[in-house]
Parts: sequence; structure tokens; C-alpha cells
Amino acid sequence: MSKPVRVAVTGAAGQIGYALLFRLASGEVFGADTPVHLNLVELPHAMDALGGVVMELDDCAFPTLEGVTTADSDHLEDGFRDADFVLCVGSVPRKQGMERADLLKVNGGIFGPTGRAIDAAAAENVKVIVVGNPCNTNCLIAMSHAPRVPRENWFAMTRLDQNRAKSQLAQKAGVGVGDVKSLAIWGNHSPTMYPDFDHATINGTPVPQAIRDHEWLKGEFLTTVQQRGAAVIKARGASSAASAANAALGTLMDITRPTPEGEVFSAAICSTGQYGIEEGIMCSMPLRTDGETWQVVEGWEHDEFAQAKIQASVDELKSERDTVREMLG
Ligand code: NAD
Ligand code: LMR
Repeated sequence: MSKPVRVAVTGAAGQIGYALLFRLASGEVFGADTPVHLNLVELPHAMDALGGVVMELDDCAFPTLEGVTTADSDHLEDGFRDADFVLCVGSVPRKQGMERADLLKVNGGIFGPTGRAIDAAAAENVKVIVVGNPCNTNCLIAMSHAPRVPRENWFAMTRLDQNRAKSQLAQKAGVGVGDVKSLAIWGNHSPTMYPDFDHATINGTPVPQAIRDHEWLKGEFLTTVQQRGAAVIKARGASSAASAANAALGTLMDITRPTPEGEVFSAAICSTGQYGIEEGIMCSMPLRTDGETWQVVEGWEHDEFAQAKIQASVDELKSERDTVREMLG
């Protein structure tokens, strides 16, 4: 058995938390030989509910679960102590009729204290994945309060959008979802996000050749992916949970395992000016990693249509950043 990996999860008693923790504890992400220690963080009033989740974790008797520590949000440093990974899920989800950006003022305030506590208490090389919406700008707020943690270690989740886009393309082409590769999401986790079908492949063939219905690609495909979160809320009466948890686990695997040949993965990272995108915003881009350090995939060219879509999402991120300026550290 190797050294335990310590993973902190905020909002651990919420619906994503419930869909996430058992898979995390089971060894699915870090493997059967790597024990996992869970640091679970919740609001004080949700600690009883969290206690029930911990009982259920015990009752699964996972050989890979080395231990569980709980902390309430008045003691965030205890929650993040020595964490190798932090999944920031805790925050309020939107309701039908809202945009994720409507949550900026509601949830933004959570992420300053979160960033400071991660800075003070987490492991030296902690990696942070922000799921709580609006995740790109929440991640920016947290990162700005954690000067010790390298900027490369901060991610906001767009893996769910990547999965949604792959699934739509596979269904349209009548292939398995595993045949769709290299699908990147650009920009914000919002209705402006751009799922880049031009650089995606189906069994090695570029998508625009494999799917000849370009009107569908530029129209229904884009809007389905961009609006999928709202469609789930409308249908379920609650925001996506199992698919969001699955994407969070996917992101953990994406950043810790070498990216397979011909693949990329999507996450919002802090721009250093790649593709002319303004420095310092959390923008989703195509990434690859050797399991240790990641790089933005370079050299992708975009036609006018794609450029305009990406720019619109980047502009939205800049405007979100301006809205939360007083919350930045
Ligand atoms: P939920 O309401 O079921 O659970 C959220 C939990 O967070 C609650 O138990 C709450 O008590 C806790 N919480 C709130 N503030 C906290 C704080 N300061 N510290 C610790 N815990 C806190 O919501 P959910 O469905 O699990 O969704 C969580 C967030 O994830 C929402 O913001 C939602 O919009 C977002 N989300 C993002 C994506 C994505 O793709 N990025 C996908 C789905 C959901
Ligand atoms: C999603 O994409 O399902 C989540 O971000 C939840 C939401 O508010 O859309």
C-alpha cells in the first residue's frame, strides 16, 4: 500500500457530495493500492446530516478508505489540513430561471475564506478543483486568497460540459462515446461556453468530416451542450448531481494520469495569455498532462465562427471578474 492520499470535499452532505464520496472512497480514482483519507467540510447546521454520510461510508467497509475527518465551515483550516486535493463543491445551486452568474454574489463570499484556509493548511502541492458555481470566477476568488499555492494547481470544472458534448456527438454519429476524442471546452462554464467540435475526432476523423450536418454542429449541438445544466434542472427540479460528481472524479483522474494519445481534457485554468486570452482569468482550454504537470495544447486554429464564440465567453469571464473585484485578495 502506498501513502494515503488526502482529499478534502466541501459541501460533502449535499447532493453532489453524496454521489461523489463513495466512489472516491472505493479506490476508483487513485487505485486499489492507494488508501484515501477524506476530509469532509459542511456548514454547521449540516453536520448531523454529514454524520449520517460518514456512517454510510463506514458501512461500505471500503478497504481503501483509511479514515474520515469532518470539520464545519467555522473551522475551515481543520477541514483542509494536509489535503493533497480539495474539491470545492459547497455552495448554493441555481434554481430554474436563474443563470449560474446570478450566484456570484451568493456564493462568491464562500471562496475568499476557502482560499485563505487552503493556503494556510493544505499540503504543499495541493491541487484544487472548484465545482460550485459560477465555478470559474469562484476559483479565481479562492486562488487570489492563496498566494502560497501555485496558480497551475487551480482548476474550475468544465469536464461535465466535455462529457455532455462527447455524448451528443456520439449519438448524432451513431458511434460509441469512446470513439469521440479530443473534444475541448473553451471559456466559461456558462451558456457562452464553446465546445470545440472542429478539433474533435470520431474514430480519428475530424468531426466536421464525420458529421456533415454543419448546421446542427453550429446550432442545436452548441445550444444543447450550453443549456444542458438548465435542461436538467427543469426536468429534475434540482441541478445535476451524479453527472457532476462523475465529472469531478473525471477531473481528478485527468490531472493525475497521463493523457492518452490523441486525447485532451478540459478544465478552466488560470490563463497566462495562451491563444491571446487575457492573463489571469480562469478560462477552459484543451489540456494534456504527463500526470505531473499539464500544458495547454498549442497550435489549434479557429475560424471566425469559433473565434467569435470563444471571445464572447472570455469577455463574459472578464466581466464576472470585474463584478467580484472587491472579493479578490
Ligand atoms: P446542494 O445544495 O445539494 O449541496 C451543497 C452543499 O454545500 C450543502 O450541503 C450545503 O450545506 C453546503 N455548503 C454551502 N455552503 C458551504 C460552505 N461555505 N462550506 C461548506 N459547505 C457548504 O448542491 P449541489 O447540487 O451539491 O451543488 C453544489 C454546487 O455545485 C452548486 O453551486 C452547483 O451549481 C454546482 N455545480 C457545478 C457543476 C459544474 O459543472 N461545474 C455541475 C453541477 C453543479
Ligand atoms: C450544470 O451544468 O449542470 C451545473 O453547473 C448546474 C447548473 O446550474 O447548470
